[in-house]
Amino acid sequence: MTTITLHPDFRVGPVDRRVFGSFVEHLGRCVYTGIYEPGHTTADEHGFRRDVADLTKELGVTMLRYPGGNFVSNYTWEDGVGPVEARKPFLDLAWRTVEPNTVGTDEFLQYCEREGIEPMMAVNLGTRGIDAAVALLEYCNGEAGTRWADMRIANGREKPYGVKLWCLGNEMDGPWQIGHKDAHEYGKLAAATGRAMRQVDPSIELVACGSSSMMMETFGEWERTVLSYCYDVVDHISMHAYYEELDGDRASFLGSGTAMSTFIERVAASADAIGAQRRSDKEITISFDEWNVWYLVSRFPGEANLPVQRDAPRIIEDRYSGLDAVVVGDLIISLLAHADRVAVGCLAQLVNVIAPIMTEPGGAAWRQTTFHPFATAARLAQGEALQVQVDAPSFATAKHGDVPAVTAAATVDTATGALALFVTNRTAEERTVTLRHPGATARLDGGTAVLADHEGPREEQAAAEAYGMVDALPVEHGDGVITLRLAPESWTAFHGTLA
Ligand code: AHR
Repeated sequence: MTTITLHPDFRVGPVDRRVFGSFVEHLGRCVYTGIYEPGHTTADEHGFRRDVADLTKELGVTMLRYPGGNFVSNYTWEDGVGPVEARKPFLDLAWRTVEPNTVGTDEFLQYCEREGIEPMMAVNLGTRGIDAAVALLEYCNGEAGTRWADMRIANGREKPYGVKLWCLGNEMDGPWQIGHKDAHEYGKLAAATGRAMRQVDPSIELVACGSSSMMMETFGEWERTVLSYCYDVVDHISMHAYYEELDGDRASFLGSGTAMSTFIERVAASADAIGAQRRSDKEITISFDEWNVWYLVSRFPGEANLPVQRDAPRIIEDRYSGLDAVVVGDLIISLLAHADRVAVGCLAQLVNVIAPIMTEPGGAAWRQTTFHPFATAARLAQGEALQVQVDAPSFATAKHGDVPAVTAAATVDTATGALALFVTNRTAEERTVTLRHPGATARLDGGTAVLADHEGPREEQAAAEAYGMVDALPVEHGDGVITLRLAPESWTAFHGTLA
């Protein structure tokens, strides 16, 4: 027996729309032949592919993180501004790829502006530091009359970009990171950089690097040490997590959302412990600025094994299955259920690189299976996240212990009463769920679902395009309860009203 109980007055908190962000890194074909391909039949006058921009709009992406990722930790941003013909290529050590510097800060920020997407910038705290970070911030947000702002103006952009969100480096806890640091070194540098950046623009929001995954040996201690230096300076701490099915362990993979929730709760607890020690009223929120399904262990040879390449090589172009789509939907449930703590989320990445959108150079752009749950949730999850009580049986997994068979998150737009209810059935049987709404009036008007299958990754465009949302199984409205049926291994988004 599974029940879900909802009431419009029991809320987690407002859903920050930035939770539906994504990520554009100079990696493989995310930028070149991804968002940008002059000469493509759909390219606009700036060289950006309209077909990709249209799919990004349909995906509902609210925010884009840029320019990395591991790339940022050896990036000289000054090489990517000014007249394009004068820009010099450099060898990016993170992905061992020659970066032509054709797209840089101005091209990216103007793209975001044209597309109505908020940018999130990262500064290089690997090979560089305070000086370069402050200069980049001044270049982006400064008013005329100082060196870097004047350089932006000379490069053809009068008005400051007003970039609000800034990452203080990327995955600095990871030994693979160029300029990797221990928690003390990074914490001090991040605090000093953040303080200096606030002198340029006090209105910015700053993200300190948290752990690259919950499996890092330094996890916990890293957050504690870094925040002991940065607590007063930063607004958010970052989290990164990638999930995959390993050794045919489907049960653990389907339970990934539970691992994500545990991770969020542990990071929040680590931040709160520092806050308590300091008797601080401030709450550090979470920037989950990289999350996705990534066949990192099973399909990726590792950065160090990549040959040096040029011309936008095909790196980490994972193809996704129906099962991956269900897990992505379930991960979104975890983010929404923690709406009080998670302020920012970035599905990593946007195009070609572990992405919901694929392209061929000079050819088509299409949706991967994982596109569908993200687009559906981004469209429907409006207003306040509700506290959803799920009473469901659990099943055992090798990686995450016992996990619930059914997970759910809900949002309600308090002005209109529009309800969205997202539910995952992680088991191989169809499940009946009783939806209780004591003291409130609820209706479900319909729903759509993604279904897992046993077909494996949909390698070809046609196979990916054959996959999509299907109608949810019919619901029945009874006296004070609604009965839902969930297809086996499915993620369903219902829409209706709750008041
Ligand atoms: O998203 C791919 C890579 O994963 C990013 O560059 C890095 O931050 C993470 O390890």
